[in-house]
Amino acid sequence: MNRLRFNLNGRWVEEPKLSPTTTLLRYLRDRLSLTGTKEGCAEGDCGACTVAIAEAGLDGKPQWRAVNSCLVLMPMVQGKTVLTVEALRAGDGTYHPAQEAMAKALGSQCGYCTPGIVMALFEATYRPDIKREAWKLDDQLCGNLCRCTGYRPIRTAAEQVAGSCPKDRFAEGLSAAAPQSMELRLETEGQKFFTPVRMGALWDVLDFAPEARFVVGGTDLSLEITKKFAKPALLVSLEGIPELKRLEETEAGFRIGAGAVVSDLEVWATSRLPSLARMARYFGARQIKHRGTVGGNLCNASPIGDLAPALISLGASVVLASRAGERRLKLEDFFVGYRKTALQPKEILAFVEVPRPGPSTRAVTYKVSKRRELDISTVAAGFLVELGAGGEVIRAQLAFGGMAATPKRAVKTEAALLGQPWSAATIDGAVPKLAEDFTPMTDHRGSAGYRAKVAANLLRGFFEETSLGPSPVLQPLHAGTVQTYGPVG
Ligand SMILES: Cc1cc2nc3c(=O)[nH]c(=O)nc-3n(C[C@H](O)[C@H](O)[C@H](O)COP(=O)(O)OP(=O)(O)OC[C@H]3O[C@@H](n4cnc5c(N)ncnc54)[C@H](O)[C@@H]3O)c2cc1C
Ligand code: FES
Ligand code: FES
Repeated sequence: MNRLRFNLNGRWVEEPKLSPTTTLLRYLRDRLSLTGTKEGCAEGDCGACTVAIAEAGLDGKPQWRAVNSCLVLMPMVQGKTVLTVEALRAGDGTYHPAQEAMAKALGSQCGYCTPGIVMALFEATYRPDIKREAWKLDDQLCGNLCRCTGYRPIRTAAEQVAGSCPKDRFAEGLSAAAPQSMELRLETEGQKFFTPVRMGALWDVLDFAPEARFVVGGTDLSLEITKKFAKPALLVSLEGIPELKRLEETEAGFRIGAGAVVSDLEVWATSRLPSLARMARYFGARQIKHRGTVGGNLCNASPIGDLAPALISLGASVVLASRAGERRLKLEDFFVGYRKTALQPKEILAFVEVPRPGPSTRAVTYKVSKRRELDISTVAAGFLVELGAGGEVIRAQLAFGGMAATPKRAVKTEAALLGQPWSAATIDGAVPKLAEDFTPMTDHRGSAGYRAKVAANLLRGFFEETSLGPSPVLQPLHAGTVQTYGPVG
């Protein structure tokens, strides 16, 4: 298919000649004058640009998902159904329950944020899993900023509609809105965007264009376009290849597709790998989690990417794939330098494999950031210990983000735990080793001293949280709420 084709507000639209780096937000506003969708930050932080896209959920059935249209490149909607705020009011003038609730709760003043908030509430309306639990409402709305109304009325609106699941035209239309094939070969204005839908077709593209850049959710890459005005000559999306999105149990453990989005990972991991699910909970906002992928997070190779410490602590390996076949590396060896990975040209990250934790394993993750939701880590940590029959530590995997140029294990600290009883005295003995493992940097998020202190306190918090039994015994609260010994700073 060499034409961009998608369904917008109930009508199929074809666009043969669109620059592939046009964002959905700019397309809606500039080309179609659908100015209900607002631009605030153009970097995924404010939610003013939120629209809904029908995507297949973990059960394969389509569901409405709120996403940031400022980060969605137009080829990423190939074969999909998109709804903007303009579609919500019915032909007879009746407003959608999310709009009604916002109006009745007095949830809007200047109104700039309102369409984005309404679209976030639109998703919430059809979420059977939301159960109006406080943290789920926080999670649903944390990607939407409002400068003037104050969040209480918006929260009231959310409480009214979230999970109400009306049997209306949007619910009934979902089966027809199921995403279709994303296959695409778009070439316009000197730019190319290919979306293969099979691995074989991907290798064919790479043989002819080894310089191609990969993209999946675009939540990292699109910022180069919206903030630095980059115009990549050739992007190859991995989003259309179904096997890369799978989340599976295997005999030895778990296999996580690099193309799986963080919101799916969070739900799937809750009962299987709770420490990973906890990190996913504090990852970005719902709109970001619906687009950001496991592979994108690891291949971006940021020292403060949140999934790496969680997965390293779980003993994860990466499966790298190319036409030549597959090779495996421990995840910690995948990061070879600041923002550098072991990927070779024409090679992708295909899967992450995680061994099944044993019954005497304790694993927890922490994220310390200036605010709880939608923030970048100052320090992130993933910890795992396995205890022997006598209560001694027989395995220790302690991984940190934000403490070095790459996500990294604290190998000397781990060694100090091995063979020791799982006790406060053992932790006290191991904590000084962190200074041998890391020389953290000072930046605007935290000084070197702060980072060193936080890392030590997180390790102590890990012991506190797991000393009574398998993890976690505390509510999944913000990492900064973990009990610490002595003042931080
Ligand atoms: C507002 C906002 C909040 C965010 N919050 C967080 C957060 O809390 N924690 C956090 O860790 N990150 C956060 N991020 C960063 C980002 O969302 C994540 O890193 C996300 O997982 C990236 O996935 P993606 O599919 O969108 O990557 P993309 O942008 O599509 O790709 C990122 C890079 O990885 C490469 N790539 C992607 N997949 C593969 C693959 N399978 N094989 C080879 N190369 C590949 C691409 O070529 C590109 O260079 C945030 C971003 C934004 C904009
Ligand atoms: S414009 Fe702010 S999130 Fe898109
Ligand atoms: S009502 Fe003004 S920004 Fe929210």
